[in-house]
Amino acid sequence: RLPMILDTDPGIDDAVALAAALFAPQCDLKLITTVAGNVSLEKTTRNALQLLNFWQADIPLAQGAATPLLRPLYSAADVHGESGMDGYAFIEHQRQPLAIPAFQAIRDVLLASPEPVTLVTIGPLTNIALLLTHYPECQFNIRRLVMMGGSAGRGNFTPNAEFNIAIDPEAAARVFNSGLEIVMCGLDVTNRATLTPEYLAALPALNNTGKMLHALFSHYRSGSMATGLRMHDLCAIAWLARPELFTLKSCFVAVETQGQYTAGATVVDIEGKLGQQPNAQVALEIDVEGFRHWVAEVLALAP
Ligand code: BDR
Ligand code: CA
Repeated sequence: RLPMILDTDPGIDDAVALAAALFAPQCDLKLITTVAGNVSLEKTTRNALQLLNFWQADIPLAQGAATPLLRPLYSAADVHGESGMDGYAFIEHQRQPLAIPAFQAIRDVLLASPEPVTLVTIGPLTNIALLLTHYPECQFNIRRLVMMGGSAGRGNFTPNAEFNIAIDPEAAARVFNSGLEIVMCGLDVTNRATLTPEYLAALPALNNTGKMLHALFSHYRSGSMATGLRMHDLCAIAWLARPELFTLKSCFVAVETQGQYTAGATVVDIEGKLGQQPNAQVALEIDVEGFRHWVAEVLALAP
């Protein structure tokens, strides 16, 4: 099993990715860290703790950055609802985050692990940029970073920028320039990674997780229940569990931080026109049927 750390901003598709990270047999989740993104840090942390409590999972959680490195936070409540996870009434609980911030908690896990740890990011990259800046000495024990973020084509937040990168372009640039091995699952594959209306309709009968997710999905605006919902963040976990479902290409990726209209765009040099060394493996194709099969398999393992 792959030791991993999940950095997240739940977020409805984040909730599904967390389910997969908890129940996919390939994943050994050591730590969850939260970041401001879809909604405020307070809300993403509350949502993540509610999910851990829902699944009675004893994975430590550390709270991360409340704002991007340089820019103000923009909230995606239009996509995920006011709370970030509208639609389901979670029960009260006593769970608390660790007393240290995310980038310190990540450092501690990295330095204590006998084998390299995979970082999986499904929100803005602020916590990882802070880790790399404050504790460069732990980079040696990062196996690779697998992200949902970016796009080789168009964006979903601005015409050219995907949300996770657009929220904190400076952090993303720091990560792409770090020399870490990066697998980028961007909109090129995640826009196609949909769950079908038939599968969504059958979810409540599957198990309690299916009931909860179905309730969240009725408030999720990345697609529609009638035509299919996009599972952006789930693609990062899918790549870890079933890499053969994806086609990757090694490319140089630059993050635009200056552009008046293009800040947060990922410039993916597929044809090598810029003459730079590749710094990421970019997912360009996905076997959508295989992905749906895998999702059904994993969610059936949840309670
Ligand atoms: C990304 O933005 C968020 O709204 C989703 O959770 C996902 O991480 C998709 O662009
Ligand atoms: Ca997310």
